[in-house]
Amino acid sequence: MSSQNSKTLITINTLHKLKATGEKFVCLTAYEATLANIISKSGVEVILVGDSLGMVIQGHESTLPVTMEDLIYHLKNVSRGNINSHLMADMPFMSYATEDAALSNATLLMQNGAHSVKLEGGRWICDLTNTLSQRGIPVCAHMGLTPQSINRIGGYFVQGRDPNKQDDMISEAKDLESAGASILLLECVPDDLAQKITQSLSIPVIGIGAGASTDAQVMVIHDLLGISCLEQPPKFIKNFLAENDSVQTAISAYVRAVKEQTFPAKEHTFF
Ligand code: KIV
Repeated sequence: MSSQNSKTLITINTLHKLKATGEKFVCLTAYEATLANIISKSGVEVILVGDSLGMVIQGHESTLPVTMEDLIYHLKNVSRGNINSHLMADMPFMSYATEDAALSNATLLMQNGAHSVKLEGGRWICDLTNTLSQRGIPVCAHMGLTPQSINRIGGYFVQGRDPNKQDDMISEAKDLESAGASILLLECVPDDLAQKITQSLSIPVIGIGAGASTDAQVMVIHDLLGISCLEQPPKFIKNFLAENDSVQTAISAYVRAVKEQTFPAKEHTFF
C-alpha cells in the first residue's frame, strides 16, 4: 500500500476551513495499514494513532504502558495504509514530561509519518504547545478526561460538571489556543461545556463523549465495530457494525452520521 496518490491531503487548514463553514468532520483511530486504508477511503478526515492502542491492541488496563517505540511502530503501519487523511499521533505517557523530551519525541513522530501530535493536559501544556507549534509541529491539546492521568483522577469519570471548574476549563482552552494549539480534543465533558468551549475558540474542537456541538467527533475503531473488551461499554460509543453488513459500510455509516449530525444522539451525551 502506498500513500502516493492524486487525492489532496487533508491539512490543518482544511480542518480550520471546515470549522469556519460549519461542516462537521470525522476522526477515527487506527493502528495498522489495512484498516487505515479503508478508513481513509471512507472519507474520514483525521486518523488518530491513539495510545488507546495500549488497551485495545496490547490488552493493558490503561494507556500508561505505551512507549514511543510502540507508537512509532503503529504510526508507520498506519502511514503506509493512509491515502489522504490527516495523521495525528498521540504522545505517550511521560514522552512530553519536559520540554526537551517533548521536542525530541514530537520530532520522531513527525519524521515517522505524523502530521500533528496530541498531548493531554490543560494550562500546564501551554508552554510545550508554544514550543512545538513555533517549530512547525501542529499540536492537538486533549482536555477533559485525560486517560494518562487516570491514577490522579481516580477513574474514567465525566469531567467539568462543577460550574466553578467549567469557567476554568473554558479559560484553559482559550489559553491553549493562544499558545498555538491547532486543534482541541475534549473527552467526556457535559454537552453545555463542550458547546461553550467550541463556540469560544476559532480552532476546531474534536469531541468524544462531549455531545453533538463540537466541530468533529472521534471514536476508537474497536468501539465502532462493537468489539470493545469492556463489560459495560461507555454510553458515548455506538456499534455501527450492528446495523451494517461490513466493516466498510459501518465506517461509512459513522462518517455519514457525524456529517448529518445524527451521531452522537442524546443517548450518547452527558448532560
Ligand atoms: O488514544 C485515543 O484513542 C484517544 C481517543 C480516545 C481520543 O485519545
